[in-house]
Amino acid sequence: MAQRLLCVIEGDGIGHEVIPAAVEVLHTVLPDVIIQPVEAGWEYFERTGLSMHPDTVEQVKQAGAVLVGTVTTPPYPVEGYISPALHLRRAVQAFANLRPTTSLPIPTSREGINLLIVRENTEDVYGGHEHTEDEGQTGISEKIITREATERVSRLAFEMAIRGGRKKVTIVHKANVLQQTDGLFRRVALEVASYYPEIITDEFFVDTAAYWMVKEPTRFDVILTPNLYGDILSDMAAAWGGGLGLAPSLSLGERVAIAEPAHGNVPAIAGLGIANPTAAILSVAMLLRYHWQMPEIAQHIVEAVRATLSEGDYTADVVMDGALSTSQFTESVCNHLH
Ligand code: IPM
Ligand code: MG
Repeated sequence: MAQRLLCVIEGDGIGHEVIPAAVEVLHTVLPDVIIQPVEAGWEYFERTGLSMHPDTVEQVKQAGAVLVGTVTTPPYPVEGYISPALHLRRAVQAFANLRPTTSLPIPTSREGINLLIVRENTEDVYGGHEHTEDEGQTGISEKIITREATERVSRLAFEMAIRGGRKKVTIVHKANVLQQTDGLFRRVALEVASYYPEIITDEFFVDTAAYWMVKEPTRFDVILTPNLYGDILSDMAAAWGGGLGLAPSLSLGERVAIAEPAHGNVPAIAGLGIANPTAAILSVAMLLRYHWQMPEIAQHIVEAVRATLSEGDYTADVVMDGALSTSQFTESVCNHLH
């Protein structure tokens, strides 16, 4: 078997804790994976004036896989800085962002949830085409939806549904208002749906989808949606899984994958050794399942995480409020893998 490479961007803050934890778990099941550390993120920017090392995109393309930790993204423009995660998603055309929510054995998770949000990952309002007019008093943003990007993410959503033994894909959009952009997304997604008659297709406007996500999340199976709605709905869904601290994600492209915990950086607890590595570890499991095609090993990791969670008497989120530290939690997961 060819040697597997994994680029690793720890990023900022708790990324320095949860990412090494996930790598330790990976090395427990696959000791031969070669890790290529890559520097990127806000801390790197403050040191060098660059968001990421100039070779990053090339290295990630070569390796075909990257694990990205949490990265600080300031909510105001900073000349020359762009979130490495956002940049990478587009630069390597990791066009579909998979965000699953599954019930976990902790008190804060709701039972019976097993949904997968497939979020378009390269366009919508994420293209960075924004400007101000009227001496800064009017902000204008460009939303881009193309047939090509919609088609490829839709195909992947339906393929995922079939491969995962799922029954339904719900297309989420706001085509009643955004007729040219979301209208196109809806049309193309429905076209693709027609090639998959074995899967039930339905649709919701995004506001109604948000309502049902809170009221009755079990009615969702696979959700297919443009970038921004996927961003928002996946954080909502994560609440049913027990919290953002547990929510993994994987961005998939043709020959590349970006594994990334969905939670942000939490500067207040950085360096304290109490950040929850679950999301990072489950993101690695997604990489194994969907990109490296090793579903049995992936499942093994998921079971080890579930066992660890069910032993701990705590409500896990990004900050673990129970008795375990990041390293003890990781050790427990690794022990379950032996
Ligand atoms: C996510 C994050 C990013 C996004 C931010 C950090 C730019 O919220 O991965 O969901 O909006 O995509
Ligand atoms: Mg988000």
